[in-house]
Amino acid sequence: MELKVATDPRWLPHALAHFDELLVDHAHCEKKAAANALSLLQAHPEVPGLPAQMARLAREESAHLAKVLQLMETRGLALGRDAGDPYAKGLQQLIRHGAKERRLDRLLVAGIIESRSHERLQLLADGLTDPSLRRLYAELAKSEDGHQKLFVRLAKNVDPAEVVEARLEVLLTAEASLIAGLPLRAAVH
Ligand SMILES: [Fe+2]
Ligand SMILES: [Fe+2]
Repeated sequence: MELKVATDPRWLPHALAHFDELLVDHAHCEKKAAANALSLLQAHPEVPGLPAQMARLAREESAHLAKVLQLMETRGLALGRDAGDPYAKGLQQLIRHGAKERRLDRLLVAGIIESRSHERLQLLADGLTDPSLRRLYAELAKSEDGHQKLFVRLAKNVDPAEVVEARLEVLLTAEASLIAGLPLRAAVH
């Protein structure tokens, strides 16, 4: 999928200047991605391919979480409570209520979050100076790109491709105005 707006160029310098804060938010994001994979597995075992893929995804996101936590430890940072993510909350409000609609929207919203994560982690990979951090972020960015494709593929395993594409278009347009309206934060989204 292609995001409709690129990240505000002021985000990267802000994130780099508050990298410790960003790391804590990033850990919470990976935790939520792992939890959401299991939640989708719980809610939609009927989607062809979904159970095995979500089990694999939960493991991958947990591995990302472990890497970020390890990095936090070396910097003396504690995880603390999740302050909440206005971006994810805004996207969740777009999820419709009918059973089929809700399923499709959950898959596509998860894909969009992966796609934005991919964009931002890649910006960090290019913007960081420490070689091992650059490597880590490039690796994570690549992984999130694979995840956004996975969610669209799973959606197309249960709904007609044209229905998926049309809804994705609507959600991507909404995501663009949501992200443009959020204040600049040292957060992944
Ligand atoms: Fe991840
Ligand atoms: Fe991911």
